[in-house]
Amino acid sequence: MRVLSGIQPSGSLHLGNYFGMMRQMIDYQEREELFCFIANYHAQTSLRDGKALARGTLDAAANFLALGLDPDKSVFWVQSDVPEVLELTWVLSNFTPMGLLERCHSYKDKVARGITANHGLFAYPVLMAADILLFEGEKVPVGKDQKQHVEVARDIAVKFNNEYGEILTIPEPDIDDQVATVPGLDGQKMSKSYGNTIDLFVEEKQLRKQIMRIVTDPTPVEEPKDPDRCNVFQIYRLFLDEEQEEALRRRYLAGGLGYGEIKQELFETARDLFAPYAERRRELVADADGLRRILAEGAERARHAAAKTLRKVRKKTGLSY
Ligand code: ADP
Ligand code: TRP
Repeated sequence: MRVLSGIQPSGSLHLGNYFGMMRQMIDYQEREELFCFIANYHAQTSLRDGKALARGTLDAAANFLALGLDPDKSVFWVQSDVPEVLELTWVLSNFTPMGLLERCHSYKDKVARGITANHGLFAYPVLMAADILLFEGEKVPVGKDQKQHVEVARDIAVKFNNEYGEILTIPEPDIDDQVATVPGLDGQKMSKSYGNTIDLFVEEKQLRKQIMRIVTDPTPVEEPKDPDRCNVFQIYRLFLDEEQEEALRRRYLAGGLGYGEIKQELFETARDLFAPYAERRRELVADADGLRRILAEGAERARHAAAKTLRKVRKKTGLSY
């Protein structure tokens, strides 16, 4: 089974990215054929600063590798190193009804927040469909917020295949129900664009500061608390197995638990989970050329897979003549 997903390098990666997508991807490399990439074209919809994009790209790659993504067990590349994806985007645009894009929540939410939409933002899901379809992704691990985009990719692929036969592989979203949406400091979806993140690989002091900022209600220490309505619990549970989660739930319900105390525990747990990877990350970041070499090799393998799909698409649509 071919598993494929990408992540935008548009800011620091956070716990939402880790639990929503990166952890699953790293797990898959042991069992499935994994394709993983840094979506820097997509990041251009929100990032104009070229230096920040370039830095963010290397940084996202370093984070993924430090956390255990193995370039020998997966195909790992930067989206713009295989620009063929833009050709497929164009071809697919002609199979994408305007209404399909107009209905996309992610686009609608951004417009509702006052972001002036340009064509890049509107066409974002078509590029994402091309990412998936070019490499014949079957299973696409994403957080719940991206589910609709994978469904758009399916719709486009079906339309294309109706015209030309079974050329494109129909993908399926793969969402971890235990995670689905990681809440941020304020209880909304954790997201770079909401400024409510707990970041991966920040200084200990900064990590503690972020965790202490998680919004809690004013229930006094001695009173029982509802874990299901507590942002700290909803984040902390991601680090715990079932038994540990149950134990924490009981402490909430029993009363006598202070939010400061539980935030401190969460801080220590998060710090201890990521600390072992920090050294490897430092090494990767310090050797940018080594990192570029890994990515160039990945791009070459990705390009090989892309050529297979594009050959068929060009032939069927008449671009090869
Ligand atoms: P952001 O919303 O911070 O810009 P991205 O859109 O780059 O994050 O997301 C990269 C991956 O991480 C996607 O698969 C996305 O679904 C997942 N993801 C991001 N935020 C969350 C979250 N809060 N909960 C679960 N998954 C998330
Ligand atoms: N849109 C995704 C996000 O913001 C990133 C992405 C780009 C992606 N292309 C993809 C995810 C293809 C899965 C498959 O998170």
